[in-house]
Amino acid sequence: MNSTTIQPAASVKGEMVVPGDKSISHRSIMLGAIANGVTTVRGFLRGEDNLSTMHAFRAMGVEINDDGETIQITGRGLHGLNEPGDVLDCGNSGTTIRLITGLLSGQSFFSVVTGDQYLRKRPMKRIVEPLSRMGAQISGRNGATLAPLAINGAPLKGINYQSPVSSAQIKSSLMLAGLYADGETSVSEPSLSRDHSERMFRLFGASLARNDNGVTVRGGVELTAQEVTVPGDISSAAFFIVAALITPHSELLIKNVGVNPSRTGVIDILQGMGGDIQLLDLREVSGEPVADILVRSSRLNGISVSGGVVPRAIDEFPVICVAAARAEGVTTIRDARELRVKETDRITAMAGNLRKLGITVTETEDGMDITGSEQLLGGIVDSSGDHRIAMSMAIAALVASAAITVTDIACIATSFPTFFPLLEKVALK
Ligand code: S3P
Repeated sequence: MNSTTIQPAASVKGEMVVPGDKSISHRSIMLGAIANGVTTVRGFLRGEDNLSTMHAFRAMGVEINDDGETIQITGRGLHGLNEPGDVLDCGNSGTTIRLITGLLSGQSFFSVVTGDQYLRKRPMKRIVEPLSRMGAQISGRNGATLAPLAINGAPLKGINYQSPVSSAQIKSSLMLAGLYADGETSVSEPSLSRDHSERMFRLFGASLARNDNGVTVRGGVELTAQEVTVPGDISSAAFFIVAALITPHSELLIKNVGVNPSRTGVIDILQGMGGDIQLLDLREVSGEPVADILVRSSRLNGISVSGGVVPRAIDEFPVICVAAARAEGVTTIRDARELRVKETDRITAMAGNLRKLGITVTETEDGMDITGSEQLLGGIVDSSGDHRIAMSMAIAALVASAAITVTDIACIATSFPTFFPLLEKVALK
């Protein structure tokens, strides 16, 4: 099995840029494909997850060119997609399968979506159930709760849906279906999840209204191609933010990072732990806030994390756990049940890995308690096939007392193919 061994570092220093935001990259292909005109995308993330989205739309007749710098998508309008000739393979990407299923529900053709062994275990009822209420005809394994899903495109009608979980994938799936529905489709959630869809729908000219934790989309409105510039992914930057915070003598500038407030929970949590993190040169690009992030090594304290900040930091909990392992005192994480249905069960995976490094961790149903320590042991840990677990454990290795070997690391390519070269550049021996 593929693995790598990471040595402790003396400091994390320098300037770096992280690759483009994964969520925004997915959405740029999807909206570009169904808009009128040619959309250009700069800063697109060429990770495996986003390539799954690209392949799916090419399979539906969309011309997408990549000259290595810019992606050009020749939009086919709301009703211009073709029936795909084969099953659409979404790989490991939850965003691809859930968003695309919403979009496919309103087409006039048949399609099947599936993914890898991990994606085929992830819950799909959360989208199938509300989409079915809109009139979608979806069947699949285990009573249409698991992929593969087969979608018979059908006429849709708008609904008013109160989602029991704060999930941008559920919200965005219904918003995409809503573009094809008769009337208005409204989605509200307990607290706001990432709002990239709302921002990009507006950019492309969709008819959309927002209130606190809700959004309404009117169906039948054609979209117009745009020039999109994707900022660096804060979820990728988070690994390096924690690296600089926990490694002594560190100072790191991460340039051009998306700092959409629905994504900056990780910064709030780490600052709450005492982390020295500054956002510099705040600006707006393609409707998204962007900044440079300056981080210096800091003494961290344990913290209680729960409530509305959780969806704003949902992908960063594995690396927040690493920060907690180095903090003084106990960090409690609650209201984070969603972590159990990510690429793997991230609560159990992180608890198990941190225990192997000598950290005391107690799991709860919706979170965990982590008792920080000055000493992190070396050893062998496994990613469970989850990119963010793999990268988090590589960051832990920078401050361990001996090398850490992380096994099953190929998954890192789903979101951050250049992670190790960048780590080598800034983590000094
Ligand atoms: C994403 C939404 C989140 C996140 C995922 C990307 C998106 O999932 O974990 O990595 O792009 O919409 P949920 O909506 O299931 O929380």
